[in-house]
Amino acid sequence: TGTAADFVPDSRGLRALRSAAAGCRGCGLYRDATQTVFGEGPRQARAMLVGEQPGDREDVEGAPFVGPAGRLLDRALDDSGIERDQVYLTNAVKHFKFVPAERGKRRIHQKPSRTEVVACRPWLLAEIDAVRPELLVLLGATAAQAVLGASFRLTRHRGEVLELPAEFGSARGMATVHPSAVLRAPDRDEAYAAFVDDLTAAARRL
Ligand code: URA
Ligand code: SF4
Repeated sequence: TGTAADFVPDSRGLRALRSAAAGCRGCGLYRDATQTVFGEGPRQARAMLVGEQPGDREDVEGAPFVGPAGRLLDRALDDSGIERDQVYLTNAVKHFKFVPAERGKRRIHQKPSRTEVVACRPWLLAEIDAVRPELLVLLGATAAQAVLGASFRLTRHRGEVLELPAEFGSARGMATVHPSAVLRAPDRDEAYAAFVDDLTAAARRL
């Protein structure tokens, strides 16, 4: 099986990383997706937010969190006193995985496999190395497990300050739900309020 490590350049500037990632073939997901969706945000960001993978809109536009989940995230960041353009936003997996939809319909997102998450992790590590954030906000179980391993349980450790493995530098972590989970929640208002609480607590730690 492949790995993104074969495509990560020695130069750790974000621009060099982004252009190299555009040609990544570290796993099979590049084949059906439109493009690599690399992270976005200032190099000096103190917080990095990590989602799962780009969705349908992100795949088309080439930017993270620009679809429905992104709109919810924008509102939650705003309600948490966090400015979107001051944080670095990225995903654990950089290509959209989906099942083809009927003509004209939105393609349905598929959860990336553990193999794909592990194959793509070198990009996340390189982004962390370039930005050196103080805090990694892990949005959902896929992002949390990309950083903390497959045995990490979000339900058990949600909202906690997490020590991260040494390869993640000096950053601390905080895992919360994915904005898509808020959109799907039976009680959306309650799920949204809890999400904003987690983000607000994270912002206070910066
Ligand atoms: N969901 C994610 O995890 N990331 C995005 O960029 C968009 C939706
Ligand atoms: Fe490379 Fe990640 Fe895309 Fe796989 S998902 S091809 S590892 S960028």
